[in-house]
Amino acid sequence: MSIDWDRLWVEARAAMQKAYCPYSNFPVGAAAFTTDGKLITGCNVENASYGLGLCAECGLVSDLATKGGGTLAALVVVASDGQPVAPCGRCRQLLWEFGGNTLQIMTASGPISFATLLPDAFGPTDLDTRSVDS
Ligand code: THU
Repeated sequence: MSIDWDRLWVEARAAMQKAYCPYSNFPVGAAAFTTDGKLITGCNVENASYGLGLCAECGLVSDLATKGGGTLAALVVVASDGQPVAPCGRCRQLLWEFGGNTLQIMTASGPISFATLLPDAFGPTDLDTRSVDS
């Protein structure tokens, strides 16, 4: 599958323009394609109760569900300096649920897979196969 990374950069920057980040002043935008070609986006949304702020990747995962779900194939996360952002630990886990090891994310040195970004991830299969009731 050939990935239109240029489009993802454009859409991630557009999403970043919608960020609500009056506390950090660090807008972040995220854009992804699903394996069936849907485009999904997100931006960070902060809160006066600082710890409740939502990363751009949280918004993206919510947009994925809103648009019917699916599997993430390729992802760009960008900050206002135009450079890619490495997702925080919580967001790596959130994203892995919907993309697994083969999800590609753009870095400053090109795309890498989530197998590299979140090795040995915990996921739904662990719940299915390792519950004492299974
Ligand atoms: N942020 C994201 O949206 N995604 C990341 O991967 C890293 C950080 C946001 C959270 C907060 O609103 C701001 O960037 C500063 O940490």
